[in-house]
Amino acid sequence: MTPILDAQGVTVTYGGVNANDHVDLSIDEGQFVGLIGANGAGKTTFVDAITGFTPLSDGAIQFDGNDITRMEPHKRAKSGLVRTFQQLELFDDLSVRANLLVACEPSKLLSMPRDIFRRTWPAEIEDRIDWALDKVGLTDLATMLPEDLSHGQRKLVGVARALAARPRLVLLDEPAAGLDATESADLAGTLRGLLDDGISVFLIDHDMGLVLAVCDYLYVLDFGRIVAKGTPAEIRRNPAVIAAYLGDSAADGGVDLGEGEGH
Ligand SMILES: Nc1ncnc2c1ncn2[C@@H]1O[C@H](COP(=O)(O)OP(=O)(O)O)[C@@H](O)[C@H]1O
Ligand SMILES: [Mg+2]
Repeated sequence: MTPILDAQGVTVTYGGVNANDHVDLSIDEGQFVGLIGANGAGKTTFVDAITGFTPLSDGAIQFDGNDITRMEPHKRAKSGLVRTFQQLELFDDLSVRANLLVACEPSKLLSMPRDIFRRTWPAEIEDRIDWALDKVGLTDLATMLPEDLSHGQRKLVGVARALAARPRLVLLDEPAAGLDATESADLAGTLRGLLDDGISVFLIDHDMGLVLAVCDYLYVLDFGRIVAKGTPAEIRRNPAVIAAYLGDSAADGGVDLGEGEGH
């Protein structure tokens, strides 16, 4: 089977340092793949590289069998490769729903106010937004402003915004950062459910507990390099991972690592 995403030797260099150093990573259709690593390991850089937000100095990327290494970011998104941003940027004076509309049709941003109030949006877009809001459980909050939401709810708007584009593969950059344990577990369930909708998922987090619980397969990044990969069970047993992340609690499956926010 051709993977939906196949990154080969992805290398990104910032100021002479390889933020990504020959990263090989592939995701099969219908798979839930995680990427973990400490702050500064190069996780966001990898998403930037895959989505075309930063150039590669070496390597190649295939999406759905096509070489997208030099494709413009908006074309990648249009073909179904959609990301969230770690630094969530919502429009504070637009409702939750309007924040999703802007993401669906950025070219119509200038005519937004009129369009929003006249509700002249094509039914297909309205449907996608309804679906995305429902997926993350924000339907009842659609008319609220971001400032009236909790941190966790605002993070969900970011996820919904990506889902409204109806991705084939969604790349989530620390969607759980700053969530409490219950919110994190809920989010994990929501994300897992996306597989049933035909959406493959790539989840970045530095919370090993979350990622081990929800992913089919994961990669561990350290100083720009993949230092381990495998199923959650294999990662739990990996000596390098245990030494770096898991400590003694790994042996009995107890994992307690998630702390604080990444950047
Ligand atoms: N746009 C950029 N310009 C220069 N250096 C960057 C840029 N983005 C990231 N870096 C550097 O690349 C390394 C990896 O960063 P990042 O990908 O954000 O790590 P992570 O997401 O794992 O925390 C860090 O040393 C960071 O300072
Ligand atoms: Mg990051």
